[in-house]
Amino acid sequence: MSENQINPSSPASEITVADPVRPQINQDVGQGRGVYISTYGCQMNVNDTERMYSLLEMANFSVVKEPEEATLIIINACSIREKPVHKVYSEVGRYRKLKEKNPMLKIGVGGCVGQQEKDKLIKNQPMIDFVFGTDNIDALPNLVAQTFESSDKVINAKFEHRAPYHVETLVRNPGVSTFVNITKGCDNFCTFCIVPFTRGREKSRPLSHVLMDVRSLVKRGVKEVTLLGQNVNSYESEDGADFADLLKKVAMETDIQRIRYTTSHPKDFNEKLMHVMAEHQDKVCEYVHLPAQSGNSRILRQMNRGYTREEYLDKIALMKKYIPNLVLSTDIIVGFPGETEEEFQDTVSLVKEVGFETMFAFMYSPRPFTKAASFPDHVAEEVKNRRLNELFDSHEKQAFDLAKKYDGQVLNVLVEQINEQGKAQGRSTQNKLVYFLGSESLIGKTVPVKINFASPNVLRGELVQ
Ligand code: 5AD
Ligand code: SF4
Repeated sequence: MSENQINPSSPASEITVADPVRPQINQDVGQGRGVYISTYGCQMNVNDTERMYSLLEMANFSVVKEPEEATLIIINACSIREKPVHKVYSEVGRYRKLKEKNPMLKIGVGGCVGQQEKDKLIKNQPMIDFVFGTDNIDALPNLVAQTFESSDKVINAKFEHRAPYHVETLVRNPGVSTFVNITKGCDNFCTFCIVPFTRGREKSRPLSHVLMDVRSLVKRGVKEVTLLGQNVNSYESEDGADFADLLKKVAMETDIQRIRYTTSHPKDFNEKLMHVMAEHQDKVCEYVHLPAQSGNSRILRQMNRGYTREEYLDKIALMKKYIPNLVLSTDIIVGFPGETEEEFQDTVSLVKEVGFETMFAFMYSPRPFTKAASFPDHVAEEVKNRRLNELFDSHEKQAFDLAKKYDGQVLNVLVEQINEQGKAQGRSTQNKLVYFLGSESLIGKTVPVKINFASPNVLRGELVQ
């Protein structure tokens, strides 16, 4: 069978996969108590916060809008770069006064920072009552119950290595568009990245569970799902299905209107997936986030990315053959240890050559446990800073030029909400945020909008009657 064919006798029906496990919840613990969660980081973290809120609501907590109203404050924080970790410490400091006023207030830290720092957090910040890791979210209601029962500090940041990833998506008000986790963890060990240490080994949810979730979200009014994983391309269901099989099944066997996915890894993005995307363009958006990280092959090797500059460019060329109107975005790191000026210029030229409509770029930040942190020749902060600005400047000009093509085009916009200025707001299949004059009755509908103002981040237009 060639790489881009789907196995027609997909073994999905031959293997029985156990139902998702529902967490046991003590429903008394939240009675009369308010919870506030402060979230930093990626979509995965945002999605984890939603799961935390859902679980805590099941335990009868009420969700409050301000930390001042809460009896339970959770900081769900990202540790991908150093800055957000500092933010956690300063945020905890800000809650000191609240704790003095209300000694019953409990403060917990979760997410990647909880996983990374564990007991160090409690040692450094005695105000913190509990810490939990990325694999312990479903245990949160019980953990919180323990914290309210005694003044002992609670730490639960162990990876459940053996437990299969059998959960159901929990989301309180999914709205029009929502996330569905398909994998967790990462086994790639890019030398700069802390994720394999904070989110553990990669695990995939069974395909049948994902389908079950999408169908039930559709019944709740969801029109668009974003399939989420650190590296969706290495998804592997217990029944042998890969990501392309999953995407095809979600497109063909559910009534979801639109499908997005993130994040892709260039080394694992295969032709079979391109084929499925092309075949199901009616549902699968023509937008791919494909982190390049660098445009120089030596740096890519040092980063352990598993592809060269040429291979990255070849893959993009192939993707564009399958999906000619493909829209791309990327992540870039500047100032990786040992990066010379010429090597940085290779990144600038790669970004130009591909023509990413959106670029997320970061200065390299040494992270604990990672290989690159102990590499020689770290680049000075001011050099990293200058390179980052140069890259943004160069990209900005191009992004404005690329956006011009939308001027006058009619795009299909899935309306998500009416914003504070009274404008209808939604996304086009190209993942562009679009604003136009429209009423609440349009929420959840996909409507044609003629663009009359186009910038890299925002498009404005008029509803085509
Ligand atoms: N320093 C800077 N950026 C990083 N990223 C991951 N680790 C680091 C680090 N140590 C960036 C990568 C990744 C994005 C989510 O964050 O570009 O794709
Ligand atoms: Fe980090 Fe690399 Fe895994 Fe992405 S693929 S989460 S950059 S280790």
